[in-house]
Amino acid sequence: MRQKLGWSRVRRIALLLAVPSVLAACANDNGQNSLSPKGQNAKDIANLINPIWVIAIVIGIGVVLATVFVALRFRDNEGKRNPKQTHGNSVLEIGWTILPALLLAAVAVPTISLIFKLAETPAKSEALQVEVVGKQWWWEFQYKANQPKFGVDEKVVTSTMLHVPVGAKITFYETSDNVLHSFWVPELSGKKDVVPGRTNVLTITASEEPGLFRGACAEYCGLSHANMKFWVKVESKADYAKWIAGQQEGPNQAYEGEVANLTGKKYQCVNCHVFDNSATPNYGPNLTHLASRQYFAGGMYKTNRANLKRWIMNAPSMIPMQSQECRLPPPATCVGMPSYTTPISQNGKPLPLMTSREADVIVDYLLGQK
Ligand code: CUA
Repeated sequence: MRQKLGWSRVRRIALLLAVPSVLAACANDNGQNSLSPKGQNAKDIANLINPIWVIAIVIGIGVVLATVFVALRFRDNEGKRNPKQTHGNSVLEIGWTILPALLLAAVAVPTISLIFKLAETPAKSEALQVEVVGKQWWWEFQYKANQPKFGVDEKVVTSTMLHVPVGAKITFYETSDNVLHSFWVPELSGKKDVVPGRTNVLTITASEEPGLFRGACAEYCGLSHANMKFWVKVESKADYAKWIAGQQEGPNQAYEGEVANLTGKKYQCVNCHVFDNSATPNYGPNLTHLASRQYFAGGMYKTNRANLKRWIMNAPSMIPMQSQECRLPPPATCVGMPSYTTPISQNGKPLPLMTSREADVIVDYLLGQK
């Protein structure tokens, strides 16, 4: 019996020791550490949370120590030590009601004022205006037209990689054409829910130094929610100016010949994608300047030949998607990119399967779309 108790104690201690190890896994430098804020919004939020956190820890330790003390001091020892009974003690009861209430009221003051501060929207001419559309499962960014201060003349539609100049204010107009998402760049700002049929506005300030910040979807939105990332690339003013000018240029190559046949009639990529006009959104990402994006596929993969080829031929093998029937016309329903290497028939007739050479033709074209 003693032996058994000993083991259960060992297990409990092991569990306690394991908790800090597991928590230590939360500390990493993958670019989404809200405890290491780089933008003004995230800094404001951290400056509010940190002192509250300290107070909470002090109180938490006090409560735990008091509980352990009472449990040990007054443990049932054949009724020998019964503590002084305090039931109905008005001073105590009013005290432990009022003290926490006062504490919470004190915390509420800076919290509410920060909520209002973060909700402020600067004049349209002062902040970069970007429409954000939550997709399944990637993010579309539409830079609104006519923003001379930010070098935007014509509307720019891009995805996954958001480029902004250092120190700039950015106002996002967030919506979804499908389900709920939540837009979050942990090191730059707090979260904002992205709701179908609504436009939620969020203004953030970019870091003062150039950097690459990881964003994530923070609201469960289906099969690939965990793969719905994006990147905010904060650049020097010159680098940003160069990028935004490039995005407004036409495609680097004429969209014609074999690549147009393959992505058009044969595999019908054009049902969802735009290849040669960066001002036009569609159901899938605009591909006009795909090669200028460091990452694609919800920010999960680097844009290079091997990844792109695998993606074009069989995207569902890289990110989970409900896309088995994406090659069939409605009423077939699907979300995502179909596999072009998995056999599927329409009206009993097999649809063509993509060859490695065909994929190379498409990849060559896309890698030229700087
Ligand atoms: Cu979008 Cu989770």
